[in-house]
Amino acid sequence: EGLYAFIDGLPKAELHMHLEGSLEPEMVMELARRNSVDVPWASADELRSAYSYTDLDSFLAVFWGGCRVLRHEQDFYEMAMAYFKRARQQNVLHAEVFIGLQSFIPLGVEMASILDGITRARIDAEKEVGITSRLMVNIHRHRPESAAFDLLSQVAPWWDQIAAFGLAGPEMGNPPSRFARFFGACRESGFRVVAHAGEEGPSSYVRETVSLLNADRVDHGNACIDDMELVQEIALKQIPLTLCPFSNLKLNVVNSLRDHPLKRLMNHGVKVTINSDDPSLFGGYINENFKACCDELELSKDQVVEIARNSFTASFLSEAEKHRYL
Ligand code: ADE
Ligand code: ZN
Repeated sequence: EGLYAFIDGLPKAELHMHLEGSLEPEMVMELARRNSVDVPWASADELRSAYSYTDLDSFLAVFWGGCRVLRHEQDFYEMAMAYFKRARQQNVLHAEVFIGLQSFIPLGVEMASILDGITRARIDAEKEVGITSRLMVNIHRHRPESAAFDLLSQVAPWWDQIAAFGLAGPEMGNPPSRFARFFGACRESGFRVVAHAGEEGPSSYVRETVSLLNADRVDHGNACIDDMELVQEIALKQIPLTLCPFSNLKLNVVNSLRDHPLKRLMNHGVKVTINSDDPSLFGGYINENFKACCDELELSKDQVVEIARNSFTASFLSEAEKHRYL
């Protein structure tokens, strides 16, 4: 059996993906029509050709541009369902998915439309598609910490639907330390904590995520490779990294997947996972990411199995639930 077919069939969890970044161009155009939202693209193909970036900021402009077409509960339901179906076809049995509420609330979208739509999709996906999930709410790191606190109280009626809070958006100049009090409050309220760090930013942002935020996982975390003491600490504490190889390539975090730190981190005992980040916007779902890593980093079958196992052990499933998959 070839390695590609093995990857296709391998049960896995996805721990780092933004639902907004899974909107395929056809669905963006359909939602724009349905909701009468003016968009600058004449067709899905024209939109797809706009999926080209120089860095994180130029990417985020496209990402937030697409968010404008989502208005109603049904829109969020369909976006999430489409992702769960695509992921399950790639043998993703469990997915922990991000939504950035602050991309929608200022546009007048109701909190209930977003959260009830996604929750309804999660329930239906478990029943009808055979994929379990958790929801994680991302905080915009370029906004003040007070905006994060406001959001935490605004979503109080939905707390039981949310597993974790995360930190995303433009990284440079917005270090995790700015949100130490906020994530402390999240933890006190019983939430898990994750944060994007060391994607474009320096290793010190990864260090802050570990020591100041006490994060359960680091999203990306690539830059830790510049600080070997930090790599050793992350390995010792078994703090998982949710790596996103295609994303890193498309945003010029690495020049080539051959330069990606995944294998080096693994060889230092770091618990790494492979994820799609924004599968539509980066042109690849989780299995395409696995396969490209195998090609460019020459991962062995055993390493592929280890990465897939990591995706379950690093998840927010209960120990009993993890046993079903391991
Ligand atoms: N939002 C969506 N994808 C992101 C990424 N890769 N980094 C930061 N914020 C994001
Ligand atoms: Zn991300």
